[in-house]
This record gives sequence, C-alpha cells and structure tokens, in this order.
Amino acid sequence: MENPIIQQSSTHDEWERELKAFDDTKLGVKGLVDNGVTKVPLIFTKFQASKASSPPSEDEFLQVPVIDLGLIGNSSKDTGGVARKDIVTKVRQACEKYGFFQIVNHGIPQEILDEMKEGTRRFHEEPNDVKKVYYSRDRLKKVRFTSNYDLYQAKAANWRDSLISLMLPEPPKPEEFPETCRDITICYSEYAYKLGLTLFELLSEALGLKPKHLEEMECAQGMFLLSHYYPACPEPDKTIGNKAHTDPNFLTILLQDHTGGLQVLVENRWIDVKPVEGALVINIGDLTQLISNDKFKSIKHRVLAPGATPRISVACFFTTNTMYPTNRLYGPIKEILSEENPAIYRETTIKDFTIQFDLRLGMTPTLEYYRI
Ligand code: OGA
Ligand code: NI
Repeated sequence: MENPIIQQSSTHDEWERELKAFDDTKLGVKGLVDNGVTKVPLIFTKFQASKASSPPSEDEFLQVPVIDLGLIGNSSKDTGGVARKDIVTKVRQACEKYGFFQIVNHGIPQEILDEMKEGTRRFHEEPNDVKKVYYSRDRLKKVRFTSNYDLYQAKAANWRDSLISLMLPEPPKPEEFPETCRDITICYSEYAYKLGLTLFELLSEALGLKPKHLEEMECAQGMFLLSHYYPACPEPDKTIGNKAHTDPNFLTILLQDHTGGLQVLVENRWIDVKPVEGALVINIGDLTQLISNDKFKSIKHRVLAPGATPRISVACFFTTNTMYPTNRLYGPIKEILSEENPAIYRETTIKDFTIQFDLRLGMTPTLEYYRI
C-alpha cells in the first residue's frame, strides 16, 4: 500500500505535514515498514550528509576495551586488592581515551539480558491497536511509546522507535507498563540499578575519590530505560538508526543484540562496538565529563540503520533529566581540582543542562556552553 507520507516534498509546509502525518499514525517507523514502504521517506533522509563525513576506521582491530568485572569484589588483604585495583585502572584508561567500554561478568544473568531483549521485541511487534495506546509525546508520562523525541525539531528523523520507562526516583505503577514487557522491565531495572551503583563506585575510585562519592552526589538518583527497536530498513544507506550524538546524562548501560551497527567516534574515525555475547556497553555521558573536569570523555556515537533484520537495544540512562528537577548544582568536583587543574566548567543543575541539550539536539556540544 502506498503510504501518504512518502511523497517527496520541497516546501517547509509540506515537510511539516509529513512529520505530522507520521506522528498521527502513532505507529512509529515500524508502522511504515508494516505498510510495505519500499523507499525511505524524505523526513528520514534529508541532511544526512554527515553520515559519510567521517570515514570508518581502517584498523578493524581497534576496539573499545572489554573489561572483566568478575574479580571486582576481590580487594581482600591477602591479594592486596590487586584485582579490584586492576579493574579500576582499566576503567580509568577507557574513560579517559574512549569514554566507552564493554563489561563481562557484570552480575546480570544471561537469561535476564535475553528476556529484556525479547520483551522489547514483543512490545514493538505487538498488534497496532495495543501499541498505539502507549504512543505519546508527553514527557511527564512515565511509560510511553514514541518515535524520535525530537521529531519536530531535528533536521531529519531517526529510523527508530522507543519505549521509554522512567524508573527512578519514582517508578511507575506496574499496571502502567505494557503487559508484554512489564515483569522483565521491572526486574531488569533492579539489576541495572545495582550495576549502576557498582559502576559509579569504580568511576569514583578511578577519579581518586572514595567509592561512594558519585552516589552521594546523587548521580544515580534518576534512571530511565529506552527500549529501542530499529525496524528492518529497505534503504539503509539513505538514513540512520540514531544520528551522531553524546548522551546528556552521567552514565549509560547499553544492552545491544547481535545485529551490530553501534559506532563511536575515536580520533575522528568511526569504530564499531562489536556485539559481545553477554556483554553490556558502558559509556560516559556529558554530565560526568563536566564533573570530572574533562578527565572522562563523553564521546559521540551513532547507530547505522539495519538491513533486513531489525535491531534491538535497551539503553539505561542515569540522570533525573527535566522530569524531577532538583536544585543541586553540578560542577567540576572540588576534590580533583588544583592549581594545575582549575575548573573549566560553570556549575549547572541537571534540568538546565538538559534544556540546553534539547536546544542543541545534541548536534553541537552542550558542554561548550558551560565552558569557562
Ligand atoms: C542512546 C544510544 C545506542 C543503541 O540511546 O543514546 O546511543 O545501540 N543508543 O541503541
Ligand atoms: Ni547514546
């Protein structure tokens, strides 16, 4: 069936109408694919020139580090805490150079990871009438299905749909989740939160601070899940799954399936974050770059559009965003500053930071706005 929104448009009004028509379907990108679209509609293609602007890395062995957390609890006197120290060193090096690493033996059982991916698939592949009910652009709604949070502001839309679940500080009621992924979303969140606390300990230690420093700064106070579905795409070269951006949070724990397509920009080259069975991808967000005074890097990343196989990923974001505004000010951590390392950023609230990020849509670095 011919979809009304795929007709090419040239004027601003037509462009707006296409966006609105797409939004009004309440079925996201998958709805287009289900409708038999054979060409990528214009709203997903325009201004995607940046996609080719940085060549892929020729060094196929260049990889973000994979860190084994298996011996993390080993800080006993008889080993002199060597194992944990070694992990902290690896985390520090990864955060300084790549802002990205993968972890294995992280304590979340494989069945939980698999079921979280399956639950995400079940939701996105549910019949239209069930899914539509959850479609919303209301940012205060704790559980909602949406496609392209910046649909009306971005220069082009991403080939991606998402179920958003705001889990902390005030979780939704169980009945607010779609039945297809209710139990696993609640269960996975608990595991992800615990892992998040462990990661904040490692990051604190890697900054030379006491283990609970970042937790006490309330970096883990807010947490939400983005259960992404990147539908099969008829022309993957014409669009992108998720355009290049940095994450406007403290930390992201990402569960990706085996499909691939996630890339990070290292030394101006895109390198693949290759799926590793059982691993989780960890990345530093802008707020951690700010509080670490640039020691840890928030690195640009993107997701290519898939071909014939849909891609599933679940991103767990640590930030209170704009939903739960707190007055707490975040600036470079005093304990790590010195005469040689003076503060290079102004203080900000998380809410203000998120507003500034949204104004820039992650296209120009928000951190520059706060640079002294
Ligand atoms: C994100 C993100 C990557 C992915 O949600 O910010 O970068 O693989 N996701 O879906
Ligand atoms: Ni991201």
